[in-house]
Amino acid sequence: MTATEREPIAVIGTGYVGLVTAAGFAELGNEVWCIDIDEAKIDGLSEGRIPIWEPGLEDLVLKHRDRLHFSTDVADALEHARLLFVAVGTPPTYSGDADLTAVMSVVASMPASDRHALVMKSTVPAGTGDTIKRLFREQGKEDFKYVSCPEFLKEGSAIADFLHPDRVVIGDDDDWAGDAVQALYAPLGAPILRMDIRSAEMVKLASNAFLATKISFINEIANVCEETGADVTEVARGMGLDERIGPKFLQAGIGFGGSCFPKDVTALKQLAGNSGYHFQLLNAVIEVNELQKRRVIAKLHKHLGTLVGKEIALLGLAFKPNTDDMREASSLVLSARLSSEGATVRAYDPVAEEEARKLIPNVEFAPSALDAVDGADAVVLVTEWREFADLDLAEVAERMRGSLLIDGRNFYDPEAVRDSGLTYEGIGRSTEDKTVAPAAIIDTDDKVVSAITSDAGIHTRGR
Ligand SMILES: NC(=O)c1ccc[n+]([C@@H]2O[C@H](COP(=O)([O-])OP(=O)(O)OC[C@H]3O[C@@H](n4cnc5c(N)ncnc54)[C@H](O)[C@@H]3O)[C@@H](O)[C@H]2O)c1
Repeated sequence: MTATEREPIAVIGTGYVGLVTAAGFAELGNEVWCIDIDEAKIDGLSEGRIPIWEPGLEDLVLKHRDRLHFSTDVADALEHARLLFVAVGTPPTYSGDADLTAVMSVVASMPASDRHALVMKSTVPAGTGDTIKRLFREQGKEDFKYVSCPEFLKEGSAIADFLHPDRVVIGDDDDWAGDAVQALYAPLGAPILRMDIRSAEMVKLASNAFLATKISFINEIANVCEETGADVTEVARGMGLDERIGPKFLQAGIGFGGSCFPKDVTALKQLAGNSGYHFQLLNAVIEVNELQKRRVIAKLHKHLGTLVGKEIALLGLAFKPNTDDMREASSLVLSARLSSEGATVRAYDPVAEEEARKLIPNVEFAPSALDAVDGADAVVLVTEWREFADLDLAEVAERMRGSLLIDGRNFYDPEAVRDSGLTYEGIGRSTEDKTVAPAAIIDTDDKVVSAITSDAGIHTRGR
């Protein structure tokens, strides 16, 4: 299909998901009407100002200025497009359920029509589609179609994820709308899964819950490694090569955050609970994550004793690298705990400072990593921004008052840190100053034999 044959679409909600979806479809050749209730955001976008920091997004939006139309009036979307992608926020309520206020306000603004369909990108509880269809029926809008098309993009690589998705999930009633969404995604060449709406909604929640479970699992393994003298990075390497397990999401650290995992895991737990099922595993996943964010404090106590009057430098604040998103970032819990322990907190993040200033009181912001560590008793690597790999650790050691570096993401080579004169403390890694021989992997015939290093030497074990 050529660009000129592609149908115009609309995206309602131009945040991370909406703007990436709009820019991605514009790249595929679609005209896209982008709607948001935030007038300042729409004014800015109309003038080429991108409200979020996402690699490649600004270039793509500017490249397709002619195909992207910004408006606060949903009537523009209805006039020009038959498929209306919904990408409004679904934050958690106090009960932990997803707050569907924005979704329902979009639904309420739809007229009776046999020409339009809502395509739900927002993450919603399983059953939301049925609720919306029932509402449409009650309001005499039964011909308005509904499709669930959950979004799996990752902030930090959202454009690449849009253009090269692992899969596209479409939940629909086997009607023209599902076919039209399938046709829109077809040029990407990704597997397209058609299924019922409830299952599509559940794929999204289950995927995020599974990934969060993997993170909490490796974090617990890391904590056991600290007790037993094993190194979780080696353990994860050894586990990850098992193709049933895979290496991704096995990086131990100080917990997951972001706008999705915490809220989606809790929303799934609540969804199960509301239906009378007690989802035990997810309770543990959530609790482990909360405790993991606080382990840094215990590590600081171990080395520094009381934190009253201590100066602690935080390197990185965003919930992960390559984004300015601070929602549920581990740095929020950490900085709050440090302040309440009486420590002074100085922080540096390459892009998230503006967002962080809105959320973190009592933190001094430094213009660079080296400025942040000046006079610090301890440094905590919170977000593994690429630029921190090039940090001159010897200069860090020189500028600090103390010598402790807590590597919250197991980002640094412990030996390199120690060689710079710093005391290294990672997550699930030995604190002893010893040279650990790397684990070896030996292929013999069709058997993989892994060599596992331990204090006692090298043991080889067949699989
Ligand atoms: N951010 C991610 O990485 C990600 C990934 C996959 C799925 N999701 C899901 O996608 C949805 C959107 O997430 P996000 O991070 O893009 O949110 P966001 O907060 O960045 O953006 C939401 C946008 O919707 C707008 N909005 C709110 N109510 C509106 C209305 N009635 N009409 C028009 N616009 C309205 C807001 O002004 C805002 O610009 C959520 O359900 C989220 O769980 C997010």
